[in-house]
Amino acid sequence: MNHPRCIVLVGMPGSGKTTVGRELAKRLGLRFMDSDHEIEVRTGVKIPTIFEIEGEEGFRKRETHTLDELTHESGMVLATGGGAVIKPENRALLSSRGVVIYLNVPPHVLWERTRHDRSRPLLQVPDPRGRLQQLFVARDPLYREAAHVIVEGGRGTPHAMVRMIEKEL
Ligand code: S3P
Repeated sequence: MNHPRCIVLVGMPGSGKTTVGRELAKRLGLRFMDSDHEIEVRTGVKIPTIFEIEGEEGFRKRETHTLDELTHESGMVLATGGGAVIKPENRALLSSRGVVIYLNVPPHVLWERTRHDRSRPLLQVPDPRGRLQQLFVARDPLYREAAHVIVEGGRGTPHAMVRMIEKEL
């Protein structure tokens, strides 16, 4: 496959979208963008603050708008937030504008990577591990629906995932 104009990484929180995305972009000579980071730059506040003030619904509106804008640009690797695939319109948008890659990482690995992190509002609940498992079960089919390529990342390092993606492009 020739390098697509936009490579979009989707997957759960802790699946490595940002780490993999940065390295992949460097290796391919493309720009790296991160939709969550972009939302923070535009609003001037961190994601948890957006959730506090506007709720999840407000955040999702900003997310859809930002994904729409960013995917008009070319020559880029785009890391999305873990919930970017929840809305059918986002799935359709991402699949039609780029090559969508699902970083499929099992819940126990996601948990190890996110358990000490306080920056994810959806995991600030009494049972974050159970929540992560629930989100995984609900979203795995949605990531698969949006994706053109699925990369299994259970045992591999982010670096190994980059290599796997390069082989698929
Ligand atoms: C979310 C994941 C976060 C961020 C927001 C909501 C989710 O991104 O977009 O907190 O719904 O899973 P990461 O996947 O980078 O943690």
